[in-house]
Amino acid sequence: MADTGGSRKPLISGNWKMNHNHLEAIQVVQKLSYALDKADYDASDVSVHPPFTGLRSIQTVLDADRIPILLGAQNCHWEDKGAFTGEVSAPMLAKLNVSLVIVGHSERRQLFGETDDMVSKKAQAVFAHGMTPIVCVGETLEEREAGGTDDKVRGQVTAALSGLSPDQVSRLVFAYEPIWAIGTGRTASAADAQAICGLIRGLVGDHVSAEAAGAVRVQYGGSVKPTNIAELMDQPDIDGALVGGASLDPDEFARMVRWRTPT
Ligand code: 13P
Repeated sequence: MADTGGSRKPLISGNWKMNHNHLEAIQVVQKLSYALDKADYDASDVSVHPPFTGLRSIQTVLDADRIPILLGAQNCHWEDKGAFTGEVSAPMLAKLNVSLVIVGHSERRQLFGETDDMVSKKAQAVFAHGMTPIVCVGETLEEREAGGTDDKVRGQVTAALSGLSPDQVSRLVFAYEPIWAIGTGRTASAADAQAICGLIRGLVGDHVSAEAAGAVRVQYGGSVKPTNIAELMDQPDIDGALVGGASLDPDEFARMVRWRTPT
């Protein structure tokens, strides 16, 4: 399991959502590995988050070919085991050398009823098993138009922080994903994304410590593409991108990992 903690090294993550069966997933990760080289991995951490059915296959490819792409999951349950039909636990993911687990994605919150309390318990479970959570936060269009963005994000962030130690928060990743920007082709302006990512870092400073605020990584997600990633990554409080649709194609995703090099 890779150590992903304690640095503000950029983290570019591909959340494949419910796309790519395990055979397709192998092909995509192999093509991605051909497109990336050591300089890319030195400059950024790169993670892929396939559906559960792809994890074992991708783990095998990454291990066999010593590819330094980090393996990520999209969700987990907070209990280690038990009568939770259809769920997958954090220790099961850790056994597959998963490094990063997305928790509280807006699709989980909106479509599957995940609450701040569940997200907090999931983040704690991920840390308890030696992995790093990517905690997703963000507002709906209605909340944004009513001027409620800051309050929504503040509530989600403080709930997630409440169950974690300062050391864990230093290694945590937040992803600011405005719901209205996900899969819509609409992206928050770089200035708006920076403002909310800065708010998140400020909350870590207020609730945990200045040290943790300096170390926590904050990604932006929501219609990130090769054409807009550079401007987002240039913002001082944006440390990475959580990419959905544009991460499904390995060439497009590789271009995003190389955002510093215009193509
Ligand atoms: P899109 O990049 O497809 O908008 O998805 C963003 C997202 O939800 C990543 O978790």
